[in-house]
Amino acid sequence: MISSTMEKALLSQLNDEFYSAYIYLAMSAYCSHLEFNGAASWFKLQYEEEHLHATRIYNYLVEQGVHVVLGKLPAPPSEYGKLLDVFKASLAHEQSMTSRLNDISDQALKEKDHATYNLLQWFVNEQVEEEATIGGIISKLKLVKDDGYGLLMIDNELGARKAEGPAV
Ligand code: FEO
Repeated sequence: MISSTMEKALLSQLNDEFYSAYIYLAMSAYCSHLEFNGAASWFKLQYEEEHLHATRIYNYLVEQGVHVVLGKLPAPPSEYGKLLDVFKASLAHEQSMTSRLNDISDQALKEKDHATYNLLQWFVNEQVEEEATIGGIISKLKLVKDDGYGLLMIDNELGARKAEGPAV
C-alpha cells in the first residue's frame, strides 16, 4: 500500500516515461528524415527502453493495488536541428527526468516507503547510465563537428546498438 501522494507522483512518472518513449520515437523519425539511419535505430531502441520503464512503474502500481488511470501525452517536438542538437535535447530531457526521480526518491524516504524507494533506485541508476551514454555521444559529435565522414562513422556506430531485452 502506498500513500496517495506517492500514488500521484508515480502516476505522473508513469506518464513521463511514456512521454520519454514518445519523444524518442519523434527523435528517431527526425533522424530517419535526415538519413541518419544509425541514429534513427539508436533512438528507436531508446523508445523501446522507455516503454519498458513505463511498464515497470505500471506493474508496480498494479501490484500496490492502484487503479491506474492513464493521462494525456503532449506532442513531442518534430524538429531538432543538427544531429548534435538531437542528442543535446535528449540529454536535457534525461536530466529533467533525473531531477524528477530524485524528488520522488526524497518523498519515498520521507514517508519511509522502502518498497517504492527500492523501485526508484533502479531508475536512478539507469539515469546515471543513460546520461553517461548520451554525454559520450555528444562528445564525439562535438569532435567531428560538420565533417561528413566523421558523422557517417558515428552514425554507423550508433546503428550497431543492440536491444537489451525486457527487464520489467
Ligand atoms: Fe526512463 Fe530515460 O528515463
